[in-house]
Amino acid sequence: MAKTDKKYIQLGERGRLNKNNKLNSLTGKEWIKFSKSWFVHRPIKRNKTEILHPAKYPESLVKEFIEFFTKEDEWVLDPFLGSGSTLLAAGESKRNAVGIELTNKFYNISKKRIVENNFKTKIIPIKGDSKNLSNILNENNLSKIRFDFVITSPPYWNQLERNSLRQKNRSKKNLVTKYSVSKKDLGNVKDYKKFIEEQAEIFDIVYNQTKSGGYLSIITNNVYFKSKLYPLAYDTAISLTNRGNKSWVLKDEKIWLQDDKPLIALGVNNAWVSNRHHQYCLIFRKEN
Ligand SMILES: C[S@@+](CC[C@H](N)C(=O)[O-])C[C@H]1O[C@@H](n2cnc3c(N)ncnc32)[C@H](O)[C@@H]1O
Repeated sequence: MAKTDKKYIQLGERGRLNKNNKLNSLTGKEWIKFSKSWFVHRPIKRNKTEILHPAKYPESLVKEFIEFFTKEDEWVLDPFLGSGSTLLAAGESKRNAVGIELTNKFYNISKKRIVENNFKTKIIPIKGDSKNLSNILNENNLSKIRFDFVITSPPYWNQLERNSLRQKNRSKKNLVTKYSVSKKDLGNVKDYKKFIEEQAEIFDIVYNQTKSGGYLSIITNNVYFKSKLYPLAYDTAISLTNRGNKSWVLKDEKIWLQDDKPLIALGVNNAWVSNRHHQYCLIFRKEN
C-alpha cells in the first residue's frame, strides 16, 4: 500500500513520486537513473516476424524514452515506423500512438504485431509517406492531435547498400537487405546532402504536429561509406536546429552502448577502422 504525504507518494522500492512532476510518472530515483548520458541495451533475439525487417530497434529502449517523456494516455508519434517497435512500446506503457510506414510489407508486420497484443490505448499504424504527414493525419481524423513525444529512427542514409557482414548474412538467409526500391524511401536518397535536407523537411512537418514543449528523440549514427566517416548524427542535429521558425532546440545526446556485438577484424595491421558499437539518441525540444 502506497504511503502518501502532501507532495509525494512513496512507491516502495521504486522511490518517491512527486505529485507535481510535470513530465512523467517516474520517481526521483528513476528520473535520475535515466538522466545518465549512456545506457546499455541488449536486444532480445528477434522472432520470425521481427527478423523480416532489416534494422529494428529494441522495444526496451523505446519504452524507457516513452516513460521518461510522457505520462499515461499521452500521444506518441513515429514517422518511420518500420516493424512497429514504437507502437508496441507505447501500448505496453499505456500511451496512445501513431506510426507511419512507407513500405507495405513492414506496415503489415507492424499491424500483425499490434493485433497480437490487446492494447487498451489507441495504437494506430498507418501506411504512407511521412513527407505527407499532415495530409495523412487529416485523412485519418487525427489532425487535431499535438503529439507529446516523437521517437523514431530514420534510415541511416545509404547504409543498407553497404556490403557488410550483417547484410551478407541476411542475403544467405534470403532475408531482405533493403527497405524498398521506392524513390519516396529516404534510404534510397543517394546524395548525402540531399538526404540531410529531405530528412530535415520531414521533421519540419513533425514540428507542426508536436505540442509546444514536446520532445523529439532521433536514434541514428555516424556512418562509414567508401573509407570515410560521414557525421550523420551530428549533421542531423545541426540540420534540425537551423530551420527558421521550425527549428528544434537540441537538448542532448544519450549514447546507446551495444556491448553484445562481436568484434570483427577491421583494418588490422593496415589502417584505422573502428568497430562502432554505439548509436546516438539525439534529444530535441520544441520550445515555441
Ligand atoms: C530504421 S527503419 C525503422 C525501424 C523501426 N524503428 C523498428 O524498430 O522497426 C526506417 C524505416 O523508415 C521507412 N521509411 C523510409 N522512408 C520513409 C518515408 N518517406 N515515410 C515513411 N517511412 C519511411 C523504411 O521503410 C523503414 O522501415
